[in-house]
Amino acid sequence: MTNAGLPRHVAIIMDGNGRWAKQHAFSVMMGHRKGVETLREIIRYSSDIGIEVLSLYAFSTENWSRPEPEVAALMRLIVEFFHSEIDELHENKVKIRILGDIEGLTASARDAVIQAMNRTRDNTGLQLNIALNYGARDELTRVVNSLVQDAREGNLREAIGWEDIADRLYTSGQPDVDLLIRTSGEQRLSNFLLYQSAYAEMIFPQKLWPDYTVADYQDALSAFARRERRFGGRST
Ligand code: IPE
Ligand code: IPE
Ligand code: MG
Repeated sequence: MTNAGLPRHVAIIMDGNGRWAKQHAFSVMMGHRKGVETLREIIRYSSDIGIEVLSLYAFSTENWSRPEPEVAALMRLIVEFFHSEIDELHENKVKIRILGDIEGLTASARDAVIQAMNRTRDNTGLQLNIALNYGARDELTRVVNSLVQDAREGNLREAIGWEDIADRLYTSGQPDVDLLIRTSGEQRLSNFLLYQSAYAEMIFPQKLWPDYTVADYQDALSAFARRERRFGGRST
């Protein structure tokens, strides 16, 4: 694949862990654990081929409504993930940013992600966004509140442009999503990166996230390279 057809920003809704566990008569946490293995492979491959930004939806603002033991176990899994992966990620120059309100996380998850962000702050490789306690409505509401605050303080003289909004999103400074992948056959955004995905190409593989492979990811990247993106213009 030529570099020209490579998306700059890939976003993935890693869905299907629960169904995978059910299929195998495992506990739902086994599904999430298996999902982490997929995630590790996809991060490594994205970094190897020179994707600029990879955004992974790990926990939504709506996922708090799941049974408490699952939520608690997911928080522990997040801590475990950062502890076990951070050395390799750092070695590969991966730079970590968390999308979402980290104040809402458990103390140990918050500490783990802050450490990971601080440690990788100056890295120049793959920008890895992990969406944790993330919801696009929550994100946009925060942006509006911060604009209102600035207006109240007299710091906004001009009309607000769309870039002013983009600058205040969790993804500020990053390119828009080019390719959005959601596994497990579901075809919805579930409150993920609504503003940033305005012109994203979308791909919905049937495979459940724990079964998703680098080869499947390569297929998605090839399909992306064949898409014609018009951005509202007319193709020549
Ligand atoms: C996605 O898998 C992972 C998280 C939301 C953390 P699910 O747990 O939503 O899997 P399904 O949709 O129940 O199969
Ligand atoms: C979206 O998946 C959130 C993550 C993958 C973290 P969900 O499984 O929570 O979404 P819905 O409920 O099916 O829309
Ligand atoms: Mg799901």
